[in-house]
Amino acid sequence: MNGVKRQITVPKFVSFKQQGHRISMLTAYDYLSAKILDEANIEAILVGDTVGMVFQGHETTLPVTLDDIIYHAEIVGRAVQHALVVVDLPFPTHLVGDQSAIASAGRILKETRCQAVKLEGGADQADTIAALVSAGIPVMGHIGLRPQSVHTMGGYKVQRDEEQLLSDALAVQQAGAFSVVLECVPAELAEKITQTLDIPTIGIGAGKQCDGQVLVLTDMLGLTPEPPRFVKKYADLHSTIADAASRYRDEVQSGDFPGSEHSYQ
Ligand code: KIV
Repeated sequence: MNGVKRQITVPKFVSFKQQGHRISMLTAYDYLSAKILDEANIEAILVGDTVGMVFQGHETTLPVTLDDIIYHAEIVGRAVQHALVVVDLPFPTHLVGDQSAIASAGRILKETRCQAVKLEGGADQADTIAALVSAGIPVMGHIGLRPQSVHTMGGYKVQRDEEQLLSDALAVQQAGAFSVVLECVPAELAEKITQTLDIPTIGIGAGKQCDGQVLVLTDMLGLTPEPPRFVKKYADLHSTIADAASRYRDEVQSGDFPGSEHSYQ
């Protein structure tokens, strides 16, 4: 395997917790971004249902369909050689019975090169997680703020119910999930959950003591106009793209583009 990077498997991903190796995870929905993240040694890539908001322009993640997510997961799976690729089960594929969850997750694993699914839910979804796991499908849980339940939760709010969150985290682990996302959970509580669980916690707006972190790629690249407070902007691609587009427009209008170096003789 000289020079060839091995794919991060689910057991390897889980072992990062014992090794104290903090896990970086980012979303990707297209080939070029997924390839760049993979080459940057990001350990895990999430084909998130945020594709509905980021790429499709919806207000929530609810309109994303199973076919949509499979379309993007197939593209991302083709780009990635190294990272673990996890795919969101879109609303409400896992909420209408275990058979539907297995059929949906099964399609994802059969039709893409991705290795695991993520589903939103805690104790209420434990039976479904257990059914998926016994069908041989690795599951990442997602507790705290659950964007698919935005209407029930009354908005995108920090989740502070310690008893509920601890019992959700333990239920997800007991059901066989290999990892769990903690979204918008106070840092101290996320630390307590992380110390309580054997499986890695992946935080988003959940402080620095989680076993790993996940962000939406377009947020951290500075493409999203008003990202949530927990986002750190590592680039300002909005300005970069806007500036490039207006310089291009100006040069087309002035006749400076294309120059002779961009033309065939
Ligand atoms: O869909 C998504 O991108 C997610 C992350 C916000 C964790 O679930």
